[in-house]
Amino acid sequence: MLASHQSWKWPRVVDATKMRVLVITGAGVSAESGIPTFRGKDGFWRKLNPAELATPEAFARDPQLVWEWYRERRQRIRNAQPNAAHEAIVKLVRHANEFLLITQNVDDLHARAGFPKEKMVQIHGDIFVSKCSRCDFSQRDDDQDDRQYQEGAAGFGVRRSRRCGTALKARTCPPTPKCPACDALMRPGVVWFGEQLPWNELQRVETFLDGGACDVVVVAGTTATFGYIIDWALRGSRDHGELIEVNPEETSLSRFATRLIREPAATALPRLVDDLTNRNAL
Ligand code: OAD
Repeated sequence: MLASHQSWKWPRVVDATKMRVLVITGAGVSAESGIPTFRGKDGFWRKLNPAELATPEAFARDPQLVWEWYRERRQRIRNAQPNAAHEAIVKLVRHANEFLLITQNVDDLHARAGFPKEKMVQIHGDIFVSKCSRCDFSQRDDDQDDRQYQEGAAGFGVRRSRRCGTALKARTCPPTPKCPACDALMRPGVVWFGEQLPWNELQRVETFLDGGACDVVVVAGTTATFGYIIDWALRGSRDHGELIEVNPEETSLSRFATRLIREPAATALPRLVDDLTNRNAL
């Protein structure tokens, strides 16, 4: 295993245009855009641990608090810009023949960098979606929806949400939105600890992995806490594919990697992608 960027050469030269590539990203890839990671020191919100807020139990106990946290995160994401790591992954998808990006991130920074939706699986959901806690109803919320609820929560808003207005008639919109179809509480459209992964998205991952081994698997900015992340990285890189980890810190995946890049993603990924896309010249 080699850690130094300069000393490393691709053991298997593959034409970049014929590469089959799997990229798995986590919160570290958005860290340099100013989005706090889950387990980093900036992750705490009002001294509350995200790992305890992102749970069905926290929502059952205090849905308003959980919504406030998600609305603040939404706002921070809206104000953030994709960084060089997101852009490098877009460059890579343009060169590779077959590609899947699995992101655990619920932000939209990969998409805003120009990454094609059909090649991306947001395995932990999408923060800008809200869904009913009881029925199948779901919707995309925009900035205005969030502002209206925040004004309601602050006690000086009398406007009704465009979306729940019909269901709630003359009432002031409460800070916790209700489903227009069945009046149950709406919740953020993300996967919480202890919940099942979305079936359709899982099938897309399985289909890609069943479709053949990868030449390169890149795992960037994740602690790889969940067994399925390690499982997908190993299955993707079976048959001697490269398994490259980009993370300043050691993780539970590190011991399986064929290459470790201990640098921030926005520094490492542009260089790595240049290497990959120029590898015929190596
Ligand atoms: P974590 O917060 O657990 O980990 C962030 C990882 O990024 C750590 O391993 C850091 O070392 C690394 N990191 C920090 N800054 C970096 C940088 N600039 N470049 C590269 N790496 C950097 O976030 P995730 O691993 O994404 O799930 O967390 C996985 C899941 O756990 C989340 O999707 C969320 C969380 O609980 C659910 O909510 C279900």
